[in-house]
Amino acid sequence: MRLDKYLSNAGSGSRKYVKQHIRKGSVEVEDIVIKDPKFDVPADAAVKLGGERIILESGIYFMLNKPRSVITSTESGRTKTVMDLIDHPQKGDLFPVGRLDKDTTGLLVITDDGKLSHELLTPKNKIGKTYIATLRDEIDASDISKLEAGIPLKDFTASPASAKKLADNVVELTITEGKFHQVKRMFQYLGNEVDGLKRIAFHTLNLDETLDEGGYRRLTDKEIDMLKK
Ligand code: URA
Repeated sequence: MRLDKYLSNAGSGSRKYVKQHIRKGSVEVEDIVIKDPKFDVPADAAVKLGGERIILESGIYFMLNKPRSVITSTESGRTKTVMDLIDHPQKGDLFPVGRLDKDTTGLLVITDDGKLSHELLTPKNKIGKTYIATLRDEIDASDISKLEAGIPLKDFTASPASAKKLADNVVELTITEGKFHQVKRMFQYLGNEVDGLKRIAFHTLNLDETLDEGGYRRLTDKEIDMLKK
């Protein structure tokens, strides 16, 4: 990574600000003064600014309570993205684990940990994702049985889900795949329609209900350890 990017990503200031310091000779890499902002910092090199060690953070884990109307993307465009909600100097290294539809709310993990993301998303690990689905029509016992048996969809048959009726038209559903619009399509198959969808759990992680929609917090060490298991 370029030296100026390294320093600004580590929160030392804007690119312009850190470039001035680099050119002034206040930055050392492995105890050698480097005056070129484009200098390529080797992995694990000791970088100092004004004699103080600057360390890039790695292993960053956030839980976001995704609001409606923001898209799960790292590409900034006209529509607000989940990344626009995050304030962190190394935001450019972060990405959401998986995807929620624009109108889905709830738990989304944002991290820089590609390995964990892969482990959580690979179908072979059958990671559970729990949603509260609010439906247009009332749900009955036969719908629950069908969800628990596995719903045939166009491109695949959903594995048996765990389904609990919470109210006439509210179901708590846990699925182990994460196909495009999967929950909505499962209820469509039953002749119903999802009016509201909120993810409340992902593997061992439960949505922190004290987070307002759009709010986020760091995962605790315990939550990170559990998620990695
Ligand atoms: N299933 C859906 O249909 N939408 C989501 O956002 C997540 C799961």
